[in-house]
Amino acid sequence: MRILIFGATGMLGKALMSRWKDDEVAGLGSAQADIRVAEQVESAIHKSRPDWTVLLAAYTDVDGCELNPTLAAAVNAQGALNVARAAASAGSRLIFVSTDYVFDGKKNSAYEIGDERDPINVYGRTKAEAEEKITSILADCCIVRTSWLFGPDGKCFPDTILKLAATRPEIDVVNDQRGCPTYTFDLADAIVKLCRKEGRGIVHCTNRGDCSWFDFATEIVRLAGAHVLVRPTTSEKFVRPAERPKNSVLSSASLTEHGIEMRPWQETLPDYLRERTQAA
Ligand SMILES: NC(=O)c1ccc[n+]([C@@H]2O[C@H](COP(=O)([O-])OP(=O)(O)OC[C@H]3O[C@@H](n4cnc5c(N)ncnc54)[C@H](OP(=O)(O)O)[C@@H]3O)[C@@H](O)[C@H]2O)c1
Repeated sequence: MRILIFGATGMLGKALMSRWKDDEVAGLGSAQADIRVAEQVESAIHKSRPDWTVLLAAYTDVDGCELNPTLAAAVNAQGALNVARAAASAGSRLIFVSTDYVFDGKKNSAYEIGDERDPINVYGRTKAEAEEKITSILADCCIVRTSWLFGPDGKCFPDTILKLAATRPEIDVVNDQRGCPTYTFDLADAIVKLCRKEGRGIVHCTNRGDCSWFDFATEIVRLAGAHVLVRPTTSEKFVRPAERPKNSVLSSASLTEHGIEMRPWQETLPDYLRERTQAA
């Protein structure tokens, strides 16, 4: 198969580029094709003639999106539309990576693929709009919703915690938001499998299990052997420009239906810590 990845220079993109074997894979960053510019996207897709286009490219800074909604809409919604149109005209299948933040977080259990989108911040709204637009153009697209991504090649929560742990005796971490931490390399493997299985529709793709940010930080610090006290706090005490959903746990039922299993998030942390050390 021929594969073209938009967003190959990002945290997930680097993992996907390193994990995707046995196919002809090309990856682009924003310097090669700015997804806001339809002509650049069309030219890239028509030149590469991919069987699958994989769209990871996005403006992912959740607080940045809140402060700059015009840029967020241009990249996350219009950019996604440009990629979907070009993929459709080139006869390419499309995988679009989306987010748990399309939900409002008010549900008391894990979100299923059929649950209504109701985002509460700009980032979530632009990604939800992208999902809708893409589906209207490419009915057989595959929308991979993931959450709480971390990996050795990017700014992510475990990296922030470990950097803080190296400089402070105590750190306060919110304990009233729950989600599913997801290791980029595991998600990359799942995306490759979804392509090979001709995946379609919405698929929730996260490592197994859920936790709060406080639980996640506590486990990171324990495994890394860092000498720091992690204290629980609340979202009210840790105000940021963008509101976050209180519960964005994604059900794994749709992934299981595709015959794919992902390991518990706790099992991925030793791999992350090893890769992070090697990357340093
Ligand atoms: N991080 C998370 O916790 C999380 C959670 C749920 C879902 N997701 C989704 O997962 C995907 C990957 O996230 P990530 O954390 O790996 O992202 P990331 O590290 O922030 O990387 C973003 C990627 O998008 C590219 N990009 C940004 N603006 C662009 C533009 N105008 N034109 C073309 N490319 C552009 C960047 O290219 P350059 O670096 O070359 O500029 C980079 O390759 C995103 O779609 C995101 O919405 C992420």
